[in-house]
Amino acid sequence: MLGRLNHVALAVPDLTTAVTAYRDTLGAEVTEPQALPEHGVTVVFVNVGNTKIELLEPLGEGSPIAAFLAKSPSGGMHHLCYEVDDILAARDQLKASGARVLGDGNPRIGAHGKPVLFLHPKDFFGTLIELEQS
Ligand code: CO
Repeated sequence: MLGRLNHVALAVPDLTTAVTAYRDTLGAEVTEPQALPEHGVTVVFVNVGNTKIELLEPLGEGSPIAAFLAKSPSGGMHHLCYEVDDILAARDQLKASGARVLGDGNPRIGAHGKPVLFLHPKDFFGTLIELEQS
């Protein structure tokens, strides 16, 4: 089921500071910020060749990463995103295995314009997992 690691996501309190650190201090290639109001985040991708780093800053009220940053004010690893060939087949297989799919269980369109789902971190050793249709 599991394909490549598409990205590792970091929640950051300030995107400008994070972009400066990755672009200028680490010398990485970064994308322009992309506001995703339906996901409550502004996102920047850092291209590191074999995968990407997703930098997430809260956007608007009730951002899903606000609580995370309240607990970890300097930021931290928020989720891992794996690619799957068929997101609906993956969801059904996971649910049949007892894994919990967050939300209403229907994929939403993610930052790459592809369907995504999130899996409960308690089912995967404290790590929130995003699945993205490849
Ligand atoms: Co992500």
